[in-house]
Amino acid sequence: NMPQSVRLVDVGPRDGLQNESQAIAVTDKVRLVDDLSAAGIRHIEVGSFVSPKWVPQMAGSAEVFAAIKQHSGVSYSALTPNMKGLEAALEAGVREVAVFAAASEAFSQRNINCSIAESIERFAPVLEAAQKADVKVRGYISCVLGCPYQGEVPADQVASVARELHAMGCYEVSLGDTIGTGTPGVTRALIEAVAKHVPREQLAGHFHDTYGQALANIYASLLEGVSVFDSSVAGLGGCPYAKGATGNVATEDVLYMLNGMGIETGIDLDLLVNAGARINLVLGRENGSRVARAILAA
Ligand code: HMG
Ligand code: MG
Repeated sequence: NMPQSVRLVDVGPRDGLQNESQAIAVTDKVRLVDDLSAAGIRHIEVGSFVSPKWVPQMAGSAEVFAAIKQHSGVSYSALTPNMKGLEAALEAGVREVAVFAAASEAFSQRNINCSIAESIERFAPVLEAAQKADVKVRGYISCVLGCPYQGEVPADQVASVARELHAMGCYEVSLGDTIGTGTPGVTRALIEAVAKHVPREQLAGHFHDTYGQALANIYASLLEGVSVFDSSVAGLGGCPYAKGATGNVATEDVLYMLNGMGIETGIDLDLLVNAGARINLVLGRENGSRVARAILAA
């Protein structure tokens, strides 16, 4: 039951850039999003409507939304942890938002300053208002394969949070290996546990590549019938609340693997490599994609 086609959600402009301490001009962020659209990415996470004290880099998200060229058939989404975030997102004309929970209590406190149960309570009015505005809501769960503060996270705990997010109306639940410690066997077991509560077609994999396991975990997820993956062009980023975390798996690397497997994505690898090279130049950063490095060196 290997999927014939896959949707890649490029979270580089959000999950990637949120971790950069240097100021990045709005025009550079806009260029990145526009480059990703032009490369054929169908879902781009553009920014966050969160407290600027917590994540200063995402403070200009409304300006970014105002300036990007929105292609039809492409979803441009943003994180909204509470009603204040949702209201700002709606004002900015955002048509898809995401709420973000954790599977570990310790991470929930550090990331959004409340317990898991409190976060679910906070999300309820966000989902209600979003649905009223005909805005889609995605749900994230962090620390699904390990937590930087509490270590192991039981699959049942992930499954229970996933069930709640799905029941409250999230059209898709993205399972985040925030610290990248997962391996293919536990990834498969996790998906089996979660799929008892949420249909596989509504699950996404969000793998950070800190331990070099992300592509293997994506392959394991494909075997489990998962067909949506979050990735970040040039492997941008990390997580401000998970020390030592590297970026998401690089979109170029995932695409190269999927191309080799004959799985359709609609994305142009060369244009994507150029998009990654351009933002790396802005950031003065080495390319986090092995595939991009190989192509650029050839
Ligand atoms: P809090 O301090 O408990 O919130 O933070 P509060 O309601 O008490 O408000 C405190 C201040 O924040 C007030 O301002 C509010 O107005 C303001 P003050 O009166 O002090 O000037 N505020 C806001 N400002 C702008 N937008 C908002 C907003 N809400 C309150 N939406 C809160 C709670 C959730 C706001 C805070 O903890 C926060 O912003 N956290 C952000 C965390 C974040 O963005 N983390 C990174 C993204 S998650 C991630 O990377 C994981 C993921 O990739 C999956 C994975 O890899 O695991 C998704
Ligand atoms: Mg992440």
